[in-house]
Amino acid sequence: MKLTRTQGNMSSRDENLIRQARKARRYAHAPYSKFRVGAALLSRNGEVFTGCNVENSSYGLTMCAERTAIFKAISMGEHNFQAIAVVASDPDFTPPCGACRQVLWDLAGNIDFVMVNSKGDIRVKKLKSLLPYAFNEKHLHRKKRSKK
Ligand code: THU
Repeated sequence: MKLTRTQGNMSSRDENLIRQARKARRYAHAPYSKFRVGAALLSRNGEVFTGCNVENSSYGLTMCAERTAIFKAISMGEHNFQAIAVVASDPDFTPPCGACRQVLWDLAGNIDFVMVNSKGDIRVKKLKSLLPYAFNEKHLHRKKRSKK
């Protein structure tokens, strides 16, 4: 599929990540929503960690592709990231859910969030722009310090 830029920098980095996210999407386990998602998370030193959504018959236990990818990476000792690409099969871009925004912000910081739609258009957003005024670990520490 041809990829075209609609926002941000279209780079070979993003193209490669999108390719890997598409591959990961093949493993999506989405028998309930039928909405199959793949993700590929790039570390600062160039390693890629992929993920897909994994649904559960108890729907609330479902895990999104983005969190699968970052939990894989963290559990393998990686903590420095630069970008994540997410691929579904929808003519609209698939933005991350609120839970993924919080988890990615906490664990990866202000990375590039690369979205691609089924037409092959690409949109890149900084994670911070997707989660303004975010809660983070600093708030926990602040609270502790102000305790009498
Ligand atoms: N989903 C993801 O994996 N990532 C997103 O960014 C959006 C939603 C999954 C969760 C669920 O399995 C299905 O898509 C429908 O919500």
